[in-house]
Amino acid sequence: MNITEAIRARRSIRRYKEGIRIPHKDITIMLEAAMMAPSSGNTRPWEFVVIENQDTIKELIDIHPYARMFRTASAAILVCGRPDLQPGVYGGFWPQDCGAATENMLLQAMDLGYGTCWCGLYPLEDRVKKVQEMFQIHSIPYAIVALGVPDQEPEARGFFDEERVHYIK
Ligand SMILES: Cc1cc2nc3c(=O)[nH]c(=O)nc-3n(C[C@H](O)[C@H](O)[C@H](O)COP(=O)(O)O)c2cc1C
Repeated sequence: MNITEAIRARRSIRRYKEGIRIPHKDITIMLEAAMMAPSSGNTRPWEFVVIENQDTIKELIDIHPYARMFRTASAAILVCGRPDLQPGVYGGFWPQDCGAATENMLLQAMDLGYGTCWCGLYPLEDRVKKVQEMFQIHSIPYAIVALGVPDQEPEARGFFDEERVHYIK
């Protein structure tokens, strides 16, 4: 699958095959893809928490109102922002940087045969706080990504909208 195909075929997956453990090497490839993303001044203001414990994964359902897919997910990857790593003129861009890292991870997961669903955390204060407390972290929980082998095949969709494009010629 090349990038053109992956971008157009990607869908959020909310039902996964149960009882599957994702090999450590595949998780590492996804994290590597995330950390290859562009970032403001190359500050790479992120860190990741990989959650493989099944009880902990299911607890996420209680702290996020739209995260029922964690019932069947094999793993969850928490993407956190580190604004402290982004000083001076580079500061403030960390949410964009974390977004780029998250999307890289989603596309890489797809190429490895996995499905994902991006669950938003930042900038909703209550979700950010609950996740910080749950994992005892000081970085800023940005998104939590559900990961697993898909047990559904939502069709690819096309959203290209010429009206949203403005050309200056
Ligand atoms: C910032 C962000 C937050 C999202 N939060 C959730 C969420 O909490 N729960 C969920 O099921 N999907 C969530 N999604 C996935 C979107 O619902 C999904 O990407 C959108 O409906 C388009 O569908 P597709 O990903 O299948 O193309 C989120 C996506 C983004 C980018």
